[in-house]
Amino acid sequence: MNPAPSIIAPSILACDFSRLGEEVKKVETAGADWLHCDVMDGHFVDNISFGSAFVDAAARNSSLPVDVHLMIERPDHYLDRYLPSAHIVTSHLEAKHDVSETLARVRNAGKKAGLAISPATDIAGVRPYLKQLDLLLIMTVVPGFGGQPFLREMLEKIKTASAWRTDENLSFLIEVDGGINAATAKECRDAGAEVMVAGTSLFRANDYSAAILAMRE
Ligand code: DX5
Ligand code: ZN
Repeated sequence: MNPAPSIIAPSILACDFSRLGEEVKKVETAGADWLHCDVMDGHFVDNISFGSAFVDAAARNSSLPVDVHLMIERPDHYLDRYLPSAHIVTSHLEAKHDVSETLARVRNAGKKAGLAISPATDIAGVRPYLKQLDLLLIMTVVPGFGGQPFLREMLEKIKTASAWRTDENLSFLIEVDGGINAATAKECRDAGAEVMVAGTSLFRANDYSAAILAMRE
């Protein structure tokens, strides 16, 4: 297990959109490490969230690394619009694109390349790409909505990815997203994950700082 403290990435999907700037500043002050932006197109997932203009607005109010999670059918088509504000851009294995090409475009732009898999997807699907990515996002809920219960069976995927990382002497980060709170963050960390995306458990908390500290323990 990585000795460094977990990276906490609040998902702005769960924040008060009418006070985006305040919310982003508030989680930064509360000790968040990254800003997770859940982009949804209504095709790849059965929901529409926000686009690049909203991500840019969030980024203008924060000095935190912007972690863009593209839950969209054509990440190749929209990628260039997210690169300017993003530090990390994650596309889905299941989307309609050339995965290697998308990962390479992100890295060629000087950003960190992420690849995500949904719960129904076998972890074996990402193995060919492990050397091309900086972050592996293992969804712990079905993509599309915040506030869903944590899928504990995803812990095995985290353990498998962590073992492959060790065996192949790679250094990509493992991120989890969906139903993450103090308890599930600890389970995921013990399984080998370093980056915890939290929407509901954080933005519904009275004390953001306490919620972040509890996920980092
Ligand atoms: C699902 C989204 C959510 C969101 C956080 O597509 O990606 O996982 O980030 O969800 P909660 O509210 O469960 O932390
Ligand atoms: Zn996400």
